[in-house]
Amino acid sequence: MENKLISLKNIRKSYKMGSLTLEVLKGVDLEIEKGEYVAILGASGSGKSTMMNIIGCIDVKSEGEYHLNGESIDDIPEDELATIRNREIGFVFQKFNLISKFNILYNVQIPLLLKGLKISETVEKATEYLDKVGLGDRLKHKPTELSGGQQQRVAIARALICDPEIILADEPTGNLDSHSGEEILKIFNNLHDEGKTIIMITHDEHIAKEADRIIHLSDGLIESDIQNKISEKVK
Ligand SMILES: Nc1ncnc2c1ncn2[C@@H]1O[C@H](COP(=O)(O)OP(=O)(O)OP(=O)(O)O)[C@@H](O)[C@H]1O
Ligand SMILES: [Mg+2]
Repeated sequence: MENKLISLKNIRKSYKMGSLTLEVLKGVDLEIEKGEYVAILGASGSGKSTMMNIIGCIDVKSEGEYHLNGESIDDIPEDELATIRNREIGFVFQKFNLISKFNILYNVQIPLLLKGLKISETVEKATEYLDKVGLGDRLKHKPTELSGGQQQRVAIARALICDPEIILADEPTGNLDSHSGEEILKIFNNLHDEGKTIIMITHDEHIAKEADRIIHLSDGLIESDIQNKISEKVK
């Protein structure tokens, strides 16, 4: 088998609700190569976030095989999984998920503090990444003192700080006006140019057009998977 970055084989996910079983993913096959920019579209409830959370190792499948970087992540204990997740994956969510009582510098420092870096190093790096997303002059501000677009840029800095291979974004522009949304998409385009692998859920066909590849999920299955642009990054 070729070493795909992400390989899902016949992934199923179901929830038991009393005597009922709700099947959310019904046998998803998906391979994603390093450097791809993939958009995931689909109706509400079709299983997009569930699939992304499984890819991001924050949820587990019920059945099927998941290989990340050629390695099966099935049966890996939670602490090792957490290490893989921190090293390989950066998450960006619709609701930013910043910690409101801390300033943005500290919000971005947290992943590095969890990794055990020296405080001075975490300050230096978090400052550098906030600078990258244009917020170098707002370090001491709390999230609530910033606009939605600025908060999402903080969340992106936090997602990038451990230099992950994969960026998973679940409706990253969903809470933003169109101008702020475009700024976020520009950042993703730059990350793609730098060689990062990006998987982005969106409801918006127009936003999906930014990606190399567009996948439609429907009722727990991949309904279509089309190449949108040919990326030079994908070999
Ligand atoms: N923890 C859970 N327990 C039970 N059902 C769940 C759970 N999480 C998700 N579901 C169900 O799984 C289905 C798919 O949910 P999911 O969040 O993946 O959809 P989605 O495609 O991301 O939708 P949206 O566009 O609204 O975010 C839904 O019917 C949802 O109710
Ligand atoms: Mg969702």
